[in-house]
Amino acid sequence: MKVFAFCASNSSKSINKILLKECVQHLNGNDFTFKTMADFDLPVFSQDLEGDGQPYPAAALEFLQHVQDSDAIILATPEHNSSMPAAFKNLVDWCSRYPDLGKNKVFHDKPLCLLSTSPGKRGGMNNLEHLSSIMPWWGADIKNTLSVPSFYEHFDKESGRLDDETRAKVKNLVSEFLAAL
Ligand SMILES: Cc1cc2nc3c(=O)[nH]c(=O)nc-3n(C[C@H](O)[C@H](O)[C@H](O)COP(=O)(O)O)c2cc1C
Repeated sequence: MKVFAFCASNSSKSINKILLKECVQHLNGNDFTFKTMADFDLPVFSQDLEGDGQPYPAAALEFLQHVQDSDAIILATPEHNSSMPAAFKNLVDWCSRYPDLGKNKVFHDKPLCLLSTSPGKRGGMNNLEHLSSIMPWWGADIKNTLSVPSFYEHFDKESGRLDDETRAKVKNLVSEFLAAL
């Protein structure tokens, strides 16, 4: 099975990337591709950038290909102002305008595991709830979710390791996800 592990942060110090790296440790030998928002550089979407022979952005096409080539997706996303990062929404907007998408949706009805962490006590919960309600419209079959609040209380900067409690939660999440596929 091929898993597309995607972090919707473009920060080189992303805490959601740390969480996603923990997720892929528990894939039990399944093949995976690991990407972050920083790998998909795109202009801010405008209908003025479409049509009239203007090329469709290669980065958006590449993202769609990763989705299409995968059997399952794990998405770790930051919360920005109670919602998803603008760069991620921009990526989804571009993908939704791919001329050859046909009747497909951006996430191609793929099973998806959704998680978020933040330094705050809600752990990106507003965004998780928001994405849980709208991502099915984007063709994501959300199987399970996890929020990790107060990230820095569960992470040792010196060793770069998450604490046992969080690692166990992530392991459970991924096992549950794999079992649901
Ligand atoms: C523009 C902006 C808005 C933010 N809004 C929220 C928020 O609504 N809720 C929250 O818990 N954290 C918020 N944060 C803090 C992020 O959770 C924190 O920066 C976290 O490290 C982002 O995840 P990342 O490191 O994976 O990029 C915000 C950060 C930024 C830069």
